[in-house]
Amino acid sequence: MSHLPDQGNGGARQEVGHGKPPSQCPPSQCSNSQCPNSQCPNSQCSNSQCPNSHHPDSRWSFHRRVLSLTVNPAGGYCRTFGEAAVVNDLVMVTGATAGIGAACARRFAAEGADLLLWARRGDRLASLAGELEREHGVRVHSGAVDVTDRTAVFDRAAELLERELVPHVLVNNAGLGLGSEPFQESEPGDWDRMIDTNVKGLLNATRRLLPAMIEAGRGHVINIGSILGRWTRPAGHVYAATKYAVRALTQAINLDVAGTPIRVSSVDPGFVETEFSQVRFRGDEARAEAVYEGFEPLTGDDIADAVVYVAGAPAHVNVLELVLMPTAQRNVYVVHTE
Ligand SMILES: NC(=O)c1ccc[n+]([C@@H]2O[C@H](COP(=O)([O-])OP(=O)(O)OC[C@H]3O[C@@H](n4cnc5c(N)ncnc54)[C@H](OP(=O)(O)O)[C@@H]3O)[C@@H](O)[C@H]2O)c1
Repeated sequence: MSHLPDQGNGGARQEVGHGKPPSQCPPSQCSNSQCPNSQCPNSQCSNSQCPNSHHPDSRWSFHRRVLSLTVNPAGGYCRTFGEAAVVNDLVMVTGATAGIGAACARRFAAEGADLLLWARRGDRLASLAGELEREHGVRVHSGAVDVTDRTAVFDRAAELLERELVPHVLVNNAGLGLGSEPFQESEPGDWDRMIDTNVKGLLNATRRLLPAMIEAGRGHVINIGSILGRWTRPAGHVYAATKYAVRALTQAINLDVAGTPIRVSSVDPGFVETEFSQVRFRGDEARAEAVYEGFEPLTGDDIADAVVYVAGAPAHVNVLELVLMPTAQRNVYVVHTE
């Protein structure tokens, strides 16, 4: 399902602004001659038309080159000039209905990126797509896709590619952890769901879209790993194994695209307060809330900031792995609680 039809008008696409008022920076301060607020120090100008602009909501300061994109008659995207940036890129996020994925969708939309959103809950996707189109003036194509269903993933990806909707950024975020029993008491059905979603789901989406990125001569695969892809903990077994696999795949795919401009990265968080624990404890909200008691966990927005930073780095910079933990958490075992 697509909540906004392609604008296959063959004409130049209007720059997407951020819907923010012009700069808080004093007039005549921006050094860029194209900006009405000239002589403003880089990254201080909040005027969305200025190449030195700094999104007022952003906590990560990075330079963005305003890109000009055209929409060809088939409705596809082609970058006409510029280097790495997120403004007007087409960003795909799997698992966009909750937590980190929804936060990434919101954050990329706020930066002016168009979106391809997948998850299983189509009603939530439709509502998020409508919200982002209204608030940010971006285009959102969403589809109720289960990433474990290889046929569905390949078919839906093929439809996108036929419409020349080749993502600039693929955020492989869909994932889950299930159960808290030691391995000897764990459920084989839970192993299957975690492996199918966290590992095979990533493989399915990446395998189908990566060749098109290579052919397009640009692309960035950003996998959401975990600190449990580096260190495991009691009862971490299969979930940790899937995240070790995500880390291995990030490194391996990064090697296999050597010689192309494709970048492959992973963002590996510690505790993030999302629906993750509700899923893990099968809807037991009290138990899920108890996970985050006594310390301040990361939020989905914190991870989205990191993902946008990784995606927005200049084209010659690949952040291979980025590990984030709450300040209260020092490793998988040490979490300071009050
Ligand atoms: N929260 C943490 O502490 C934490 C820490 C490190 C890493 N992570 C990783 O971060 C990623 C996102 O987790 P989260 O914390 O944001 O959890 P969340 O709030 O439960 O969100 C998970 C998302 O994945 C989607 N999803 C699950 N199975 C799917 C499937 N088969 N096909 C398509 N989409 C699917 C869900 O959407 P639908 O249910 O609508 O399909 C939902 O949008 C996961 O890979 C997780 O392993 C989380």
